[in-house]
Amino acid sequence: MASPASSGTMRAVQFDRYGGGAEGLKHVEVPIPTPKKGEVLIKMEAASVNPIDWKIQKGMVRPFLPRKFPSIPGNDLAGEVAALGGGVSDFKVGDKVIAINFPSGGGFAEYAVAQASLTVARPPEVSSAEGACLPLAAVTALQSLRAAGVGLDARGGGDPKNVLVTAASGGVGHFAVQLASQAGHRVTATCGARNLGFVGGLGADEVLDYGTPDGAALRSPSGRRYDAVVHCAPPFPWSVFRPVLADGGVVVDITPGAAAVLTALRQKVTFSKKRLTPLVFSPSKDDMELLVDMARRGMLKPMVDSSYPLSRASEGWAMSMAGHATGKVVVETRQPHGARSTQPLDVATPQE
Ligand SMILES: NC(=O)c1ccc[n+]([C@@H]2O[C@H](COP(=O)([O-])OP(=O)(O)OC[C@H]3O[C@@H](n4cnc5c(N)ncnc54)[C@H](OP(=O)(O)O)[C@@H]3O)[C@@H](O)[C@H]2O)c1
Repeated sequence: MASPASSGTMRAVQFDRYGGGAEGLKHVEVPIPTPKKGEVLIKMEAASVNPIDWKIQKGMVRPFLPRKFPSIPGNDLAGEVAALGGGVSDFKVGDKVIAINFPSGGGFAEYAVAQASLTVARPPEVSSAEGACLPLAAVTALQSLRAAGVGLDARGGGDPKNVLVTAASGGVGHFAVQLASQAGHRVTATCGARNLGFVGGLGADEVLDYGTPDGAALRSPSGRRYDAVVHCAPPFPWSVFRPVLADGGVVVDITPGAAAVLTALRQKVTFSKKRLTPLVFSPSKDDMELLVDMARRGMLKPMVDSSYPLSRASEGWAMSMAGHATGKVVVETRQPHGARSTQPLDVATPQE
């Protein structure tokens, strides 16, 4: 199939080798991608930065990712449908959408393609910047809570648990706190001193400064033992978790290194009651719909740490790499007047 969109070019930001950090991002003019069967072409409004983006650039997941160079990063997409690939009938040109395009990325550009099966409608109550915050980070938060046995229904007769969220001020953590707290669980959270108020405002009823001895030891001020931990902070040894877990307590580690994987294996073969579970998020349209609907109803509030136009994407990249964002870093695609040459798209007809 062919899309009329392929006749134009677009501004994009890409890297063409491993390493280089923010300075390794290059501004380029490249062809607008053509949506294939089952895909939508999105005229980008906002993308968000996730640590996996710069970890891919660093070569931390080689040889698997990126699949090829040059690579346009940005897995979380928000924008407007500009063209439809073959067989896509649940969207039309002009629809506002949010999509996840992991691991292919492509969001640091004026146009990006995404699977229609991983694209959801963006309601007007959720801005494009907020929408771009949701896919990878909020889905990871939701799936981590599920993996730790934390239901979203503790208020409606479910089972309220003692939940700990580490790095609760970060992209994943700030969603995990809100989801657990909204669901009626008792939430303890760790963050830096400057974010104690922010994290308390998300719904955590105990907030620990990770720079203090109690915070570093994850010690609850009220003596709680945790049934579930969503561990978003850099790796801790198992010896830090073991004393603060309840019997049957589960730590879901979203950045599991080799030591965590070995711990999990050892616990499995020894039938340990306290367990560590490594988690890799799985892109899910159902989960995105649930989370976007929560955001629409004001039950989930994406926090935008900072937002950069595409022309300054490298600043957002550096911000994320520094590891001190409060919430999410966003890259917004704006078109400076008279600054570029993308041709108008003629894209109304679904393509086969
Ligand atoms: N497994 C998966 O599928 C998956 C999915 C998403 C993310 N991840 C990984 O999960 C990690 C977190 O992702 P993210 O997007 O939430 O990162 P992020 O937004 O960059 O996290 C930054 C936050 O972490 C806080 N922080 C750093 N060290 C901390 C510590 N020791 N204790 C408490 N807070 C600490 C920082 O607070 P200060 O500024 O105060 O230091 C900052 O607010 C990353 O390594 C990412 O690659 C994995």
